[in-house]
Amino acid sequence: MPSPAIHAALRAREKKLAVIGLGYVGLPLALEFATCFDVVGFDISASRVEQMRRGEDPSNELPPSAFEGRSITFTADPADLRGAHFFVVAVPTPIDVHKVPDLKPLFGASRFVGQAIKPGDHVVFESTVYPGCTEEDCLPLIESLSGLRAGVDFFYGYSPERINPGDKEHTVRTITKVVSGCSPEVREEVAAVYGEIIDAGVYRASSVKVAEAAKVIENTQRDLNIAFMNELSLIFDRMGIDTKGVLAAAGTKWNFLPFKPGLVGGHCIGVDPYYLTYKSQKIGYTPEVILSGRRINDGVPAFLAKRLVQLLVQADFHLKGARVLVLGVTFKEDVSDIRNSKVAELIHEAQSYALSVDVVDPHASAHEVEEEYGLRLAAAPEGRYEAVVLAVAHRAYKARSAEDLCAHLKPGGVLMDIKGLLDGAPEGFSYWRM
Ligand SMILES: NC(=O)c1ccc[n+]([C@@H]2O[C@H](COP(=O)([O-])OP(=O)(O)OC[C@H]3O[C@@H](n4cnc5c(N)ncnc54)[C@H](O)[C@@H]3O)[C@@H](O)[C@H]2O)c1
Repeated sequence: MPSPAIHAALRAREKKLAVIGLGYVGLPLALEFATCFDVVGFDISASRVEQMRRGEDPSNELPPSAFEGRSITFTADPADLRGAHFFVVAVPTPIDVHKVPDLKPLFGASRFVGQAIKPGDHVVFESTVYPGCTEEDCLPLIESLSGLRAGVDFFYGYSPERINPGDKEHTVRTITKVVSGCSPEVREEVAAVYGEIIDAGVYRASSVKVAEAAKVIENTQRDLNIAFMNELSLIFDRMGIDTKGVLAAAGTKWNFLPFKPGLVGGHCIGVDPYYLTYKSQKIGYTPEVILSGRRINDGVPAFLAKRLVQLLVQADFHLKGARVLVLGVTFKEDVSDIRNSKVAELIHEAQSYALSVDVVDPHASAHEVEEEYGLRLAAAPEGRYEAVVLAVAHRAYKARSAEDLCAHLKPGGVLMDIKGLLDGAPEGFSYWRM
């Protein structure tokens, strides 16, 4: 069956587009599509759907105005997907405790598509996966449930998402969108559909696997570059050399890349490389560089906790029960997302040395932090601490001077500046940065 002109049918509102999974990626995408198509926004979480019906973004990224004037129906009922003809899948792709891809959400979404898809329909996956996941793992599920053949009775593509939470400059519309399809004709249809909402234009990848691979290596490259910086920081710290100073000097060369050391948390940079390494190992190649980069980045919280203990001892503090104030717990600055927070790991490590940690964060939800990590967010710092750890570069913390931060410290206290925001501490305090 030739690929029908789905773009034209969506444009004429004869057919509907459905987005499955309305999180950080799916919701902004669905709302953009809803400016020009009739959209069904589906999510398995009834409570999140309720919030979206009220015009609230459960991920706290979009203002209520983003919901205004959009042609979208939010639903948690998979039966509503039967009314759609173009399915976009944007469900999470986490890893499990063994750092193996957890494809349950993706398989769940594929089953919903399998029950709703009809001859001539299209499905496009947006979730970050390893090359081959769409064609080898998801499509067979859709085929078995629908009784339809992929690429023959229904059509498919892959178009990875590149948004960056908290980033108001790089948004759905302003980021070049990579698109792919099961045939050149399908790819053109997919390109036309996305072309309606992407101002930056679409890039046509030569195949679905190329598009899948492109996405996963973007984040792997970033992970590795940060791992290199973290390794440099480990080396230079032992030598008593300031890594920030070294990077500033090296950065004056035209082709030196501007990365910084730090904690690699969240659900993308620290997770996606494992999708690639999993697939690679499955086909008989154990990646050396990628996995060693992951090991270095995963080891940073333990390194920082140990370093904090050394600094406290060097500053003549009694360790057991020493009070530490941690500023920030989200996985990056100016977002409320605490998933895979390496700061939480650092706190647990510090607690294992019998340090007493208070943590504050202007963006994180106290309830989520308690539920996810068993940590109680303090409303505000209380009294004086032996150490202050500046862990997340929230705007509110960037605005504070070293003097101001040291006001939380006892005399001789330690200021640990993980993000390298400051240039030292006032006299009478010790200062350390990565
Ligand atoms: N968040 C980002 O910055 C970002 C950027 C680029 C790519 N990605 C990728 O996009 C994908 C989605 O990530 P996210 O951050 O939007 O996830 P998320 O956790 O914010 O949202 C996922 C949503 O999907 C829903 N869901 C889970 N399983 C479902 C199912 N079987 N059917 C329907 N809905 C289901 C959840 O209830 C939730 O609302 C992932 O593959 C991620 O790696 C994320």
